[in-house]
Amino acid sequence: MTAKILLAQPLVDKIKNELRLRCEGLKSQGTTPSMCVVLVGENPASLTYIKNKKKICEEVGAHFQLLHLPAETSEQDFLEHLSRLNSDSKIHGIIIQLPVTDKLKKLDIPNLVAPSKDIDGFHTANTKAIYYGTTDLNLLLPCTPKGVIHLLQFYGIDVKGKHIVVLGRSLIVGKPLAMLLSNLDATVTLAHSKTKNLEEITRTADILISAIGIPHFIKTSALNSAKHTVVIDVGINSLNGKVTGDVDPDVIEVASAISPVPGGVGPMTVISLIQNLMCAAENQLKGKK
Ligand code: GUN
Repeated sequence: MTAKILLAQPLVDKIKNELRLRCEGLKSQGTTPSMCVVLVGENPASLTYIKNKKKICEEVGAHFQLLHLPAETSEQDFLEHLSRLNSDSKIHGIIIQLPVTDKLKKLDIPNLVAPSKDIDGFHTANTKAIYYGTTDLNLLLPCTPKGVIHLLQFYGIDVKGKHIVVLGRSLIVGKPLAMLLSNLDATVTLAHSKTKNLEEITRTADILISAIGIPHFIKTSALNSAKHTVVIDVGINSLNGKVTGDVDPDVIEVASAISPVPGGVGPMTVISLIQNLMCAAENQLKGKK
């Protein structure tokens, strides 16, 4: 058996069309949805991510701007820039591109963007909804978890009552994703780099989601072929100059479905960000009326 490939493209095209219409609707009411990415220093991976965000943002008709600050930017200057962006009514969504420089590491980065403009969904005022049990994907939720759940739903993969093993406990992916899936009635195991007997656990998964950040970490031995496991690969790693997921290519022979890298979760993350931008702009317009 060869796994079904869960390509993001058909869903991304569908969401893009919806976003174009929402963007036109906002423009007809005098609001051009606008996002600003704040980048400090010159991280090559960040520059690539930002290029993707800009492309999709402009494709749906929204406005994109980059505030590129020098690596030596002080805490005070950084906070002043954010304060200005937070109070600029022409900007509806703000992202602080991670990782930030060492100089800024002590700041409480997730809580520096105003909650209403927090299109990364990192502010505690927004993540609280997840902790409280929300299943509403139209809120400002972290983009990768939101994108993964939309991808599962698009391919008709029900999570209710399923055993889902999430590998990786980051604040951006693993933790919020595990909680959202639990809100959607999945039985979730949140495993990580210190988990003992990991493969014993992953072999009991109906759905295995890897966000561990190690190329080809998930081997065929991590799956039980009788379980027809769905594998979602969140990894974006570099291996011999190529973008590579967490999942070994041989897993395609054992899984029932698998999200590819590139072309799976990555594009879902970017489109979720633009969905968050549209929500933020709509909410801000409603707030004005
Ligand atoms: N760097 C890598 N992924 C992300 C993300 O989702 N948001 C931000 N702000 N920076 C990132």
